[in-house]
Amino acid sequence: MKNYNIQFDKNGRLRHFLTIEGLKRQLLVDILDTAESFSGVTAQSIKKVPLLRGETVVNLFFEPSTRTRTTFELAAKRLSADVLNINVTASATTKGETLLDTLHNLQAMHCDMFVVRHDRGGAAHFIAQHVAPHISVINAGDGRHAHPTQAMLDMFTIRRHKKEFAKLNVAIVGDILHSRVARSQIHALTTLGVNEVRVIGPETLIPCEVETLGVHVYHDLREGLRDVDVIIMLRLQHERMKGALLPSEHEYFRLYGLTEEKLAYAKPDVIVMHPGPINRGVEIDSSVADGPRSVILEQVTHGIAVRMAIMSMVLSGSASIPLSTKVNSEGEII
Ligand code: CP
Repeated sequence: MKNYNIQFDKNGRLRHFLTIEGLKRQLLVDILDTAESFSGVTAQSIKKVPLLRGETVVNLFFEPSTRTRTTFELAAKRLSADVLNINVTASATTKGETLLDTLHNLQAMHCDMFVVRHDRGGAAHFIAQHVAPHISVINAGDGRHAHPTQAMLDMFTIRRHKKEFAKLNVAIVGDILHSRVARSQIHALTTLGVNEVRVIGPETLIPCEVETLGVHVYHDLREGLRDVDVIIMLRLQHERMKGALLPSEHEYFRLYGLTEEKLAYAKPDVIVMHPGPINRGVEIDSSVADGPRSVILEQVTHGIAVRMAIMSMVLSGSASIPLSTKVNSEGEII
């Protein structure tokens, strides 16, 4: 079929969530609005809604994770789904079982959703192409390619502070080359219509084709930060670097580390973001990471509501629940 996108079923319903590239602005706004409706669930005495009762979600992480895995688990539990966390290092993959055989075995247990993190770009798409028709796949980060739920929780955090995307100048700073987060953020920011996206970093860490995505490239941090509304700092992804791309971490911090002195080039009400894990004294100074402009821990909190929104949209087709949603002692919506 022309324009067929594996993320949608034949009726145009979102079935998998693999990448932000190619998604329409309205769908991103629907996800943000749905997440807004779920953010109140955490404040309820019973932090649960029964939308995914009876569904089974499998967290399948082939790479380490703290934030993404735990917030997916919390999100699924708050939607009343059953959750399996597969410990890949203790699974039969270590005995030579292929990825597809592992998936087919989990499928035979009547699971409904795979949340997948893998070090190979394209792994989540590959899995989505091979699962049974009733199963949904969510990409929790694949190689350097994409981390779409991270980008959506970042957009949610920005919207909480800044309201109108069209007026914003956003700087993404650091190791753009190896960052699946940056790639997904660029697609989300440009789709939501921000005024300007800047990427800032040394030449060795900026992909040469990045300007085709509609961003402006800066190699001088102070110049790039001038008058921005949002700064997103990135970690150096040493595990994906082949060879020495930097003189030293000390030199990197001198040129690209975010300090209070460099922060002063941005707008006074700038927000500072980071997907985590942060490396203090490498890409960001502690006084900024823990300072009044930082929203880094808010991003983590919003990850739960945003992941609830995406999981419920792909599994149940439900767009949103009312902001006033309350549940009774049985965890049922009243
Ligand atoms: N931001 C992020 O993906 O963090 P984790 O690696 O801890 O999941």
